Amino acid sequence: MEHPQDFAKGLSIGIIMDGNGRWAKQRGLPRTAGHKKGAEVFQDITRYCNQIGVESVTFYAFSTENWKRPLEEVGAIMRLFGEYLLKAYDYQKENNRVVFLGDRSALDPKHQELMNDIETRTRNNTGMTLNIAVNYGGRAEIVRAAKALARKVAQGDMTVEQITEEAMSNEMYTRGQKDPDFILRPSGEKRLSNFMLWQAAYSELVEMDVLWPDFTREDLDRAIQEFNRRSRRFGGV
Ligand code: IPE
Ligand code: IPE
Ligand code: MG
Repeated sequence: MEHPQDFAKGLSIGIIMDGNGRWAKQRGLPRTAGHKKGAEVFQDITRYCNQIGVESVTFYAFSTENWKRPLEEVGAIMRLFGEYLLKAYDYQKENNRVVFLGDRSALDPKHQELMNDIETRTRNNTGMTLNIAVNYGGRAEIVRAAKALARKVAQGDMTVEQITEEAMSNEMYTRGQKDPDFILRPSGEKRLSNFMLWQAAYSELVEMDVLWPDFTREDLDRAIQEFNRRSRRFGGV
């Protein structure tokens, strides 16, 4: 697709990878086949975001509510997470700085080790910031931030008056990062499903009718074009 140079430069994008199950069902395949294809699309779209100069991208891979799914499906998603997101993708080569959002203490200890290792190794990379949200919930993130600040007040390290929006932002997993310019949800659903509730205050919402496993680079171009047409006012005129 033709697009002006730098059309994605500096953008911060949130992506709710949705529609894997429906994609598989359409093909008479088990839901896990959709997750596998979805993981492949994750790799391709990450590479593409990197190429077109996106500043940061956040992928929603597994929510705090997704544990409600059948054990077998949860197990398959976690295996794919290990295989595709923790092992196959060379973040170092791509110069990405990787940050995992969410409560990792509930995950397989081997995965936790890899996550810590990837974060440490990529910490000083200068390219795109890549956030991967796993066992992530926006409400849980806000509660965690509130607790951290409450603890500091209780210990006498800060006063109640020092609890500001900035102080809260600094306790989020995305500390120091720009809020998402837009949040993209494929699969036609029009809700956040507990994704980046704090950070999304003024994000544009872009929903698309394509299922995530079918999502292409051209779809991302289209989403960015749609975002570029929006008029953001941040409460002003
Ligand atoms: C998104 O696809 C993947 C995860 C939530 C882990 P779904 O599995 O939610 O796919 P649908 O919404 O059932 O089609
Ligand atoms: C949101 O998708 C979570 C992820 C994509 C990881 P869901 O499929 O879980 O959301 P709902 O249940 O349709 O709201
Ligand atoms: Mg879904």
